[in-house]
Amino acid sequence: MANETTVATPPTTEVKKEPVKPATVVEQAPTEGKWSLLSRRDFLTRAAWAGFTINFLAATFACLRYMFPRVLFEPSPIFKAGFPNEYAVGEVNERFKQSQRVWIVRDSGGFYALLAICTHLGCTPNWFATEDKFKCPCHGSGFRRTGINFEGPAPRPLERIKITLAEDGQLLIDKSVKFLYERGEWTKPGAYLPYSS
Ligand code: FES
Repeated sequence: MANETTVATPPTTEVKKEPVKPATVVEQAPTEGKWSLLSRRDFLTRAAWAGFTINFLAATFACLRYMFPRVLFEPSPIFKAGFPNEYAVGEVNERFKQSQRVWIVRDSGGFYALLAICTHLGCTPNWFATEDKFKCPCHGSGFRRTGINFEGPAPRPLERIKITLAEDGQLLIDKSVKFLYERGEWTKPGAYLPYSS
Protein backbone atom coordinates (compact mmCIF):
# COMPACT_ATOMS: atom_id res chain seq x y z
CA MET A 1 0.00 0.00 0.00
CA ALA A 2 1.31 3.07 -0.94
CA ASN A 3 2.43 5.13 1.82
CA GLU A 4 0.18 7.85 1.51
CA THR A 5 1.53 10.91 2.89
CA THR A 6 -0.95 13.19 3.90
CA VAL A 7 0.12 16.58 3.13
CA ALA A 8 -1.35 18.79 5.58
CA THR A 9 -2.58 21.75 3.93
CA PRO A 10 -1.68 24.72 5.94
CA PRO A 11 -4.57 26.38 7.32
CA THR A 12 -5.54 29.16 5.14
CA THR A 13 -4.55 32.27 6.82
CA GLU A 14 -7.16 34.64 6.63
CA VAL A 15 -5.72 37.88 5.49
CA LYS A 16 -7.26 40.44 7.44
CA LYS A 17 -8.04 43.19 5.25
CA GLU A 18 -7.49 46.44 6.82
CA PRO A 19 -10.32 48.71 6.21
CA VAL A 20 -9.36 51.11 3.57
CA LYS A 21 -8.95 54.37 5.08
CA PRO A 22 -10.30 57.09 3.08
CA ALA A 23 -7.60 59.27 1.56
CA THR A 24 -6.65 62.03 3.82
CA VAL A 25 -8.26 65.10 2.63
CA VAL A 26 -6.05 68.07 3.20
CA GLU A 27 -8.25 70.69 4.32
CA GLN A 28 -7.79 73.88 2.46
CA ALA A 29 -8.52 77.27 3.67
CA PRO A 30 -11.58 78.65 2.17
CA THR A 31 -10.62 80.00 -1.25
CA GLU A 32 -12.68 83.11 -0.79
CA GLY A 33 -10.40 84.36 1.99
CA LYS A 34 -7.26 83.61 -0.05
CA TRP A 35 -8.49 85.53 -3.03
CA SER A 36 -9.62 88.42 -0.99
CA LEU A 37 -6.14 88.55 0.58
CA LEU A 38 -4.56 88.51 -2.88
CA SER A 39 -6.84 91.09 -4.26
CA ARG A 40 -6.16 93.26 -1.24
CA ARG A 41 -2.44 93.01 -1.92
CA ASP A 42 -3.06 93.65 -5.58
CA PHE A 43 -5.11 96.67 -4.77
CA LEU A 44 -2.45 98.09 -2.48
CA THR A 45 0.25 97.54 -5.10
CA ARG A 46 -1.79 99.23 -7.74
CA ALA A 47 -2.59 102.13 -5.44
CA ALA A 48 1.10 102.54 -4.67
CA TRP A 49 1.95 102.57 -8.37
CA ALA A 50 -0.82 105.01 -9.08
CA GLY A 51 0.47 107.32 -6.37
CA PHE A 52 3.98 107.05 -7.70
CA THR A 53 2.83 107.76 -11.25
CA ILE A 54 0.82 110.79 -10.18
CA ASN A 55 3.75 112.18 -8.22
CA PHE A 56 6.10 111.54 -11.10
CA LEU A 57 3.81 113.28 -13.58
CA ALA A 58 3.32 116.23 -11.23
CA ALA A 59 7.08 116.58 -10.78
CA THR A 60 7.61 116.37 -14.55
CA PHE A 61 4.93 118.99 -15.17
CA ALA A 62 6.50 121.30 -12.55
CA CYS A 63 9.90 120.90 -14.22
CA LEU A 64 8.44 121.72 -17.62
CA ARG A 65 6.69 124.78 -16.26
CA TYR A 66 9.97 125.90 -14.74
CA MET A 67 11.75 125.41 -18.05
CA PHE A 68 9.02 127.18 -20.01
CA PRO A 69 7.64 129.85 -17.68
CA ARG A 70 4.46 131.60 -18.62
CA VAL A 71 5.32 134.83 -20.33
CA LEU A 72 2.88 137.59 -20.90
CA PHE A 73 3.52 138.95 -24.35
CA GLU A 74 2.50 142.57 -24.42
CA PRO A 75 1.98 144.41 -27.66
CA SER A 76 4.96 146.37 -28.87
CA PRO A 77 4.99 150.03 -27.77
CA ILE A 78 6.38 150.95 -31.18
CA PHE A 79 4.13 151.42 -34.17
CA LYS A 80 4.14 153.10 -37.54
CA ALA A 81 1.61 155.85 -38.01
CA GLY A 82 1.57 156.38 -41.76
CA PHE A 83 3.27 159.00 -43.92
CA PRO A 84 3.54 162.66 -42.94
CA ASN A 85 1.53 163.84 -45.93
CA GLU A 86 -1.47 161.93 -44.55
CA TYR A 87 -1.71 164.59 -41.82
CA ALA A 88 -2.99 168.10 -42.34
CA VAL A 89 -1.19 171.05 -40.78
CA GLY A 90 -3.04 172.19 -37.67
CA GLU A 91 -4.71 168.81 -37.18
CA VAL A 92 -5.04 166.84 -33.94
CA ASN A 93 -5.29 163.38 -35.41
CA GLU A 94 -7.31 160.81 -33.46
CA ARG A 95 -6.60 157.86 -35.73
CA PHE A 96 -4.64 156.03 -33.04
CA LYS A 97 -6.57 157.16 -29.99
CA GLN A 98 -8.60 153.95 -29.63
CA SER A 99 -5.93 151.45 -30.53
CA GLN A 100 -2.86 153.13 -29.01
CA ARG A 101 -4.16 155.95 -26.79
CA VAL A 102 -2.10 158.39 -28.82
CA TRP A 103 -2.86 161.67 -30.57
CA ILE A 104 -0.59 162.85 -33.34
CA VAL A 105 -0.49 166.60 -33.77
CA ARG A 106 0.90 168.41 -36.77
CA ASP A 107 1.71 172.09 -36.54
CA SER A 108 3.42 174.39 -38.98
CA GLY A 109 6.89 173.15 -38.04
CA GLY A 110 6.42 169.43 -37.59
CA PHE A 111 4.88 166.71 -35.43
CA TYR A 112 4.52 165.69 -31.82
CA ALA A 113 2.67 162.79 -30.23
CA LEU A 114 0.62 163.04 -27.04
CA LEU A 115 -0.35 160.19 -24.76
CA ALA A 116 -4.15 160.16 -24.33
CA ILE A 117 -3.92 159.53 -20.59
CA CYS A 118 -5.11 162.16 -18.15
CA THR A 119 -2.38 163.07 -15.68
CA HIS A 120 -4.95 163.23 -12.86
CA LEU A 121 -6.16 159.63 -12.55
CA GLY A 122 -5.55 158.17 -15.96
CA CYS A 123 -8.87 158.58 -17.80
CA THR A 124 -8.88 159.15 -21.54
CA PRO A 125 -9.61 162.78 -22.40
CA ASN A 126 -11.55 163.82 -25.50
CA TRP A 127 -10.51 166.28 -28.17
CA PHE A 128 -12.89 169.17 -28.84
CA ALA A 129 -11.77 170.80 -32.07
CA THR A 130 -14.24 173.65 -31.81
CA GLU A 131 -12.91 174.59 -28.39
CA ASP A 132 -9.37 173.71 -29.35
CA LYS A 133 -8.79 171.69 -26.21
CA PHE A 134 -8.69 168.27 -24.64
CA LYS A 135 -11.20 167.70 -21.88
CA CYS A 136 -11.19 164.82 -19.44
CA PRO A 137 -14.68 163.32 -18.86
CA CYS A 138 -13.84 162.05 -15.36
CA HIS A 139 -13.15 165.20 -13.29
CA GLY A 140 -13.07 167.94 -15.89
CA SER A 141 -9.37 168.58 -16.41
CA GLY A 142 -8.63 170.60 -19.53
CA PHE A 143 -5.48 170.62 -21.67
CA ARG A 144 -4.38 172.85 -24.53
CA ARG A 145 -3.54 171.28 -27.90
CA THR A 146 0.09 171.42 -26.82
CA GLY A 147 -0.79 169.21 -23.88
CA ILE A 148 -0.41 171.93 -21.22
CA ASN A 149 -3.02 171.61 -18.46
CA PHE A 150 -5.06 174.73 -17.69
CA GLU A 151 -8.13 173.64 -15.71
CA GLY A 152 -9.35 170.93 -13.38
CA PRO A 153 -7.40 168.73 -10.98
CA ALA A 154 -4.76 167.43 -13.43
CA PRO A 155 -1.44 168.34 -11.75
CA ARG A 156 0.68 168.43 -14.89
CA PRO A 157 0.58 168.47 -18.70
CA LEU A 158 -0.09 165.47 -20.87
CA GLU A 159 2.97 163.39 -21.68
CA ARG A 160 4.60 163.44 -25.08
CA ILE A 161 6.12 160.32 -26.56
CA LYS A 162 8.89 159.70 -29.03
CA ILE A 163 8.17 160.44 -32.67
CA THR A 164 10.69 159.95 -35.46
CA LEU A 165 10.75 158.97 -39.10
CA ALA A 166 11.17 155.29 -39.99
CA GLU A 167 13.47 154.21 -42.82
CA ASP A 168 10.50 153.87 -45.14
CA GLY A 169 9.48 157.47 -44.45
CA GLN A 170 6.55 156.71 -42.14
CA LEU A 171 6.06 158.30 -38.75
CA LEU A 172 7.42 156.01 -36.07
CA ILE A 173 5.94 156.26 -32.58
CA ASP A 174 7.57 154.77 -29.50
CA LYS A 175 5.34 154.86 -26.43
CA SER A 176 8.08 153.53 -24.19
CA VAL A 177 9.99 156.82 -24.44
CA LYS A 178 8.19 159.68 -22.69
CA PHE A 179 8.98 163.35 -22.46
CA LEU A 180 7.66 165.33 -19.50
CA TYR A 181 7.14 169.08 -19.76
CA GLU A 182 7.80 169.69 -16.04
CA ARG A 183 11.26 168.20 -16.48
CA GLY A 184 12.02 170.35 -19.50
CA GLU A 185 12.04 167.31 -21.79
CA TRP A 186 9.86 168.62 -24.60
CA THR A 187 12.89 170.15 -26.25
CA LYS A 188 14.79 166.87 -26.34
CA PRO A 189 15.34 165.01 -29.64
CA GLY A 190 12.40 162.72 -30.28
CA ALA A 191 9.87 164.87 -28.43
CA TYR A 192 9.25 166.85 -31.59
CA LEU A 193 9.77 165.92 -35.22
CA PRO A 194 10.62 168.94 -37.38
CA TYR A 195 9.02 168.47 -40.77
CA SER A 196 8.25 170.59 -43.76
CA SER A 197 6.87 169.44 -47.06
FE1 FES B 1 -8.92 163.22 -15.70
FE2 FES B 1 -9.51 163.09 -13.15
S1 FES B 1 -8.86 161.55 -14.42
S2 FES B 1 -9.60 164.80 -14.46
